[in-house]
Amino acid sequence: MLKDKHIAVYVTGGIAAYKSLGIVRALIKQEAIVQVIMTDAAQKFVTPLTFATLSQHPVITDNFTPQTSPDDFIPHIQLALWTDLAIVVPATANIIGKMANGIADDITSTSLLATTAPKLIFPTMNTDMYDNPAVQKNLQTLQEMGIQIVEPAEGFLAEGMTGKGRLPELSVIMNAIENNFTEKKLAGKKVVVTAGGTKEAIDPVRYIGNRSSGKMGLAMATVARDLGAEVTLITTVDAPLAGMNIIQVQTASEMMQQLQDVFPTTDALVMAAAVADFKPLHVADQKIKKNDDEDLFTIELTKNPDILKTIAATKNKQFVVGFAAETQNLLSNAEKKLAHKNADVILANNVANEGSGFGVDTNRITLLQKNHEPTTWPLMSKIDVAKKFWDFYINR
Ligand code: PMT
Repeated sequence: MLKDKHIAVYVTGGIAAYKSLGIVRALIKQEAIVQVIMTDAAQKFVTPLTFATLSQHPVITDNFTPQTSPDDFIPHIQLALWTDLAIVVPATANIIGKMANGIADDITSTSLLATTAPKLIFPTMNTDMYDNPAVQKNLQTLQEMGIQIVEPAEGFLAEGMTGKGRLPELSVIMNAIENNFTEKKLAGKKVVVTAGGTKEAIDPVRYIGNRSSGKMGLAMATVARDLGAEVTLITTVDAPLAGMNIIQVQTASEMMQQLQDVFPTTDALVMAAAVADFKPLHVADQKIKKNDDEDLFTIELTKNPDILKTIAATKNKQFVVGFAAETQNLLSNAEKKLAHKNADVILANNVANEGSGFGVDTNRITLLQKNHEPTTWPLMSKIDVAKKFWDFYINR
């Protein structure tokens, strides 16, 4: 997909600059033609020589020395005209501020200003810097200018704190890049995806929940959007995803209600959400107090609706996909779900296996459909699972 595409990789001065090496490598592996541009600050973290070696091309570091060929006597304009896609990774608060305000005081900011090709940036910084209203305002401005922004991931940051600000996983980054060159094979299709674990209230402060992070559902929604589908994501987790209709819910009943509204006009439903089978029969109005005399506490549970089964029973043209989260007898349990839940396809995952199921960025899926042998896919990123699934849907 990226073969012979001209990708300008702008590296600015953050510790994540070393991770951009992996991105350049991945682009070269896909036979893209890569031109790296580095700010002065970026060169304090990684040398231009390292990027030049990996990109198989000299790195541009200043405005005044023609570096790529004798013809490049105005480097920033040559570069801007050459570019099919410009990515800024990592994108510091500084470059975000410059891009939002039209400042052009070095080769990076000048070339980005001169570039009319699509631009994709990966903000990466300390959480407090990222949350600063000035940075948020600049990001808002960039979004309004049509610049693609991939939100930073949460996790352990270089300064020792945990928060939002990390560069996302390579699979997320590559997907965002590839999206600029993806054929929109789901254009005209309406897709609904559910994601995350439902939260069933016990009292105003407690709930029954599960370990679902929503990553699998978000990946399904992201890839469908990138393929041109009109996506509705019904989710219990935060979903910092642009270009889709996001509906936040908490409980299975809320999820069911929202689905009932959108399902009739949908082409495909993917139920990746981990729905609680039971909920507390009574929700306490006030926080339940501990009683020192009692060591046991009982909560009476009642069945939640089986959303997939109920919704799929009303289908006419819709293609309905369920997941099966199992810890044993994967195939036989998933086959029962395929038969009982009116689904066209069940994507079964063994959530007890390492790298598979809840919370992680990877999954191993077995696809089951009626009158076909099950197919097991190798362990891969959840984004790749989603790509493989939508490819299956398109070519089925
Ligand atoms: O969110 P992640 O951390 O990325 O983890 C991904 C995942 C493990 C949650 C996902 O891959 C997955 O398996 N999702 C389905 C979880 C689940 O509820 O599985 P189940 O086997 O209990 O249910 C089977 C199907 O029925 C599922 O599509 C489920 O959404 C649906 N269901 C279940 C119960 C219920 N009351 N209503 C439902 O619609």
